[in-house]
Amino acid sequence: MGCIPSKALLQSSEHYEHAGKHFAEHGIEVKGLGLDVGKMLARKDAVVKQNNDGILYLFKKNKITFFHGRGAFVKASDAGYEIKVTGAAEESIVGKQIIVATGSNARALPGAPFDEENILSNDGALRIGAVPKKLALIGSGVIGLEMGSVWRRLGAEVTVLEALPTFLGAVDEQIAKEAKKAFDKQGLKIELGVKVGEINSGKKGVSIAWTNAKGEAQTLEVDKLIVSIGRVPNTIGLDAEAVGLKLDDRGAIVVDDECKTNLPGVWAIGDVVRGPMLAHKAEEEGVAVAERIAGQHGHVNFNTIPWVIYTSPEIAWVGQTEQQLKASGRAYKAGTFPFLANGRARALGDTTGMVKFLADAATDEILGVHMVGPQVSELISEAVVAMEFKASSEDIARICHAHPSLSEATKEAALAVDKRTLNF
Ligand code: NAI
Repeated sequence: MGCIPSKALLQSSEHYEHAGKHFAEHGIEVKGLGLDVGKMLARKDAVVKQNNDGILYLFKKNKITFFHGRGAFVKASDAGYEIKVTGAAEESIVGKQIIVATGSNARALPGAPFDEENILSNDGALRIGAVPKKLALIGSGVIGLEMGSVWRRLGAEVTVLEALPTFLGAVDEQIAKEAKKAFDKQGLKIELGVKVGEINSGKKGVSIAWTNAKGEAQTLEVDKLIVSIGRVPNTIGLDAEAVGLKLDDRGAIVVDDECKTNLPGVWAIGDVVRGPMLAHKAEEEGVAVAERIAGQHGHVNFNTIPWVIYTSPEIAWVGQTEQQLKASGRAYKAGTFPFLANGRARALGDTTGMVKFLADAATDEILGVHMVGPQVSELISEAVVAMEFKASSEDIARICHAHPSLSEATKEAALAVDKRTLNF
């Protein structure tokens, strides 16, 4: 999983950028600023290890036996499903209830397989031993923007090549536009509407032929290339066919709303099934499945799963975007509030971005909340709670929010739905 290591590197690289570019405005002089990429990567590995050890501790505490190796279906019988585990030793386990949570793998570009030396997946992108002078990323999705930000902050000249003509198409347009403005200002070069051609990797680096949005042929020579064009469900080696487990044409395990597969007692959750590839979505599904196996009534609300992109500014959202509401014909009201008018954001020295509320025109029920700005990964949970409780924008507008805090921007955006902002 890339969640924790990427956040560790995002934090380290942000500290470096702050020390080099922003401390001065706080009256803090930094002389002889240096960078030890090896130490930064070692810290990241230590953070990951702490997390992994935590999981092993939890297994032990909850009396869960852990087999370390690759699992594959062998056969189904009256006793249950036989799973072969190939690791340091080969083991065989039989279970009546099986939960498959094998995750996903990075999707490679045809003709440019990952060598994790020059052509990197998100995995290799977290292990570059020295800052590349020139770095290219293909795909300006979540991984492209997060990894592009890390290496740009550390000094690489970064170009992101994106096939779609719109930037972050799944994000609310107004928020995506605001984020793009910030990334442009930082010097993250994002080329939209491109067609990537031949890629050649050699001793000197990687050469990428591509066509820009105007149809002009271009070549990009870089030291490293990160390919971040989405991920594919990981069912290779699972031997699904040994038991007749149904996969779709993308290789994902077919499940219903309750994560049940076509086989009785076999469940699947997370990246290996439909829905967004987010760790917290997988966790919710896992808990719900455990509850169902225990005879309880697990539930996952797919409409209130938050999304976060941990760039600077951060981008976070829950619910529907304005373009989705327009397309569905639903009558809505919108309210926005800029961090520029938030006292805490000014004190932090980071006033980029805004909070945006979308609410039903008649009932005022919150339909979507979209944010770009400082620490919005934390602010979004208030919106998730509000939507889970079917709150109206007025509910949030009437709740006391601590002053000074970034969360006041959430309250103010809720007030803005009825044009009643207090501080703008
Ligand atoms: P993504 O789906 O977020 O973005 C892929 C981008 O690549 C899209 O914009 C797509 O239009 C573009 N693309 C596809 N083919 C292309 C081509 N041939 N040439 C140029 N551009 C092309 O996928 P990404 O960034 O690889 O991430 C994979 C998954 O990992 C995501 O679904 C995301 O949910 C998850 N993830 C989540 C994180 C988070 O929650 N903060 C962090 C990292 C990953």
